Amino acid sequence: MNIFLIGMMGSGKTSIGKTLSSKLDYDFVDTDQLIEKKHNLSVKEIINQFGWVHFRAIESIVLQHLTFNQSTIIATGGGIILNEDNVKFMRKNGIIIYIKVSIEELMNRLNQQEINKRPLLNECSLKDIFDTRKTLYDKVCDIEISCDGLSIESICDRIIIKTID
Ligand code: S3P
Repeated sequence: MNIFLIGMMGSGKTSIGKTLSSKLDYDFVDTDQLIEKKHNLSVKEIINQFGWVHFRAIESIVLQHLTFNQSTIIATGGGIILNEDNVKFMRKNGIIIYIKVSIEELMNRLNQQEINKRPLLNECSLKDIFDTRKTLYDKVCDIEISCDGLSIESICDRIIIKTID
């Protein structure tokens, strides 16, 4: 079984995915990291040099060309759900888990260094992105995990209880 982690930037998908994969002995991949490796550029550099349309196209290709040797946790970029084909692919190939973090907690967590890494935050406020996406995350996920105030360990335990047990 594959587990796709979706949610806002800064919600902790990558850290949660890594911990979860070692707890469950699953493989782990992160779509942004795959993009960066494939193109030998950071996500920010790709967006700055080629623009959003190009980045979203690469993101879809990387996602939809994933192959699974064994059960895998896939941490996705926050915008993966904007493309319906991406959602269909995730539905077909695994369970979609929404890593749900409130806007207040996201704002507290994102420091300047994290903001600098994310070019979308130069163009829109975190609150606006959150407001336009939150219903979409709700709608496409199979399971949502409310993560406010929880450690990565307890988030992973919640995921395991809701999916595996
Ligand atoms: C994006 C989120 C980023 C990255 C890109 C766009 C978004 O990933 O894919 O900057 O549209 O929400 P994280 O969610 O891992 O920060």
